Amino acid sequence: MVRSVIAGTGSYVPPKVVTNHDLSKLMDTSDEWIRTRSGIEERHFAEDGVSCSDLALEASKNALADAGMSPSEIDFILFATLSPDQNFPGGGCYLQAKLGIGPIGAMDIRNQCAGFLYALATADAFIRSGIYRKILVVGAEVHSSILDFTDRGRNMAVLFGDGAAAAVVTASEDSNRGILYSELHADGNYASCLQMKVWDISRKPYLSPETLTSAEIWPEMDGKTVFKHAVVQLTEIAENSIKRSGVKREDIKYVIPHQANQRINMMVAERLGFPQEKFLSNIQKYGNTSAASIPLLLDQTHRSGKLERGDLLLLMGFGSGFTWASILLRW
Ligand code: ACO
Repeated sequence: MVRSVIAGTGSYVPPKVVTNHDLSKLMDTSDEWIRTRSGIEERHFAEDGVSCSDLALEASKNALADAGMSPSEIDFILFATLSPDQNFPGGGCYLQAKLGIGPIGAMDIRNQCAGFLYALATADAFIRSGIYRKILVVGAEVHSSILDFTDRGRNMAVLFGDGAAAAVVTASEDSNRGILYSELHADGNYASCLQMKVWDISRKPYLSPETLTSAEIWPEMDGKTVFKHAVVQLTEIAENSIKRSGVKREDIKYVIPHQANQRINMMVAERLGFPQEKFLSNIQKYGNTSAASIPLLLDQTHRSGKLERGDLLLLMGFGSGFTWASILLRW
């Protein structure tokens, strides 16, 4: 049976570090407020002129090097992002051109913080159906260009960071490795809880003078509702993934959760009865990088030497949409 295995991972964050203290000079916030509410200490922001696909390119090169592959060996690109270079074409097209591997297929996945897992599950389906054998799966975001760094936007501006990460997913006959199980969910009834309406380009008037001066050009979030649903849905999807896949809870070596808020992840760990050290985190240094957060943490865990072949990992994320997803895999 063909399995989808992660043959290599890579990540890239822009060099500029922005601390909580730096943000407190721009808006009415404090290091203490941000740390205690979210666990975040600092994040990376792209310099002016750097786009989402620029970050994705560096992460992809690192993932390809880790897999020992050249770009020309890739036969499909899946690009997860909520902050593409342009409304259209998709970020995957820009990345494909930058890697110089046209005309292979490139597809964007617009599922926010669950985007990388939606992309990984799609790659798994392509591989197991025999359509493709070597897929580059990328999550990348430049959030800093669309955050409102005034008091009005402080509830969101302090949470997000920029970054990119990628995985090379390949077909394998090795039954001891690979993606075992995935679950994907969405509930569009909660779209307004976390949204950025200016990119709803189909509703007229587009960029009217009123729109340009309204709060709608900035992302909006009902933080308490997001928090509550994230805890409930992540707990439930983890329980269901364990039960439906038939794996033993105690065999899971690490949970690699989306890094939205350390308090969300600690609450989920507690509800699942998992020791906190099984729930990995790097939110302290990167903030919430949406589609990049899970592969960024996965890449850092891999490179730190914590993972051994066959380790059972649970990846899961929750975000705007609402969308949420999980993947169980053997490393
Ligand atoms: N600094 C200081 N004060 C702030 C800030 C800030 N950056 N932001 C908000 N406040 C104030 C509010 O104005 C409010 O003041 P008030 O009581 O005078 O009205 C007070 O702090 C409390 O605000 P709340 O929103 O009630 O704060 P809460 O304890 O809920 O924490 C937070 C806010 C951190 C956003 C929390 O709700 C949360 O983490 N929610 C989940 C958000 C999330 O994870 N989003 C992303 C996930 S999805 C994705 O990744 C795309």
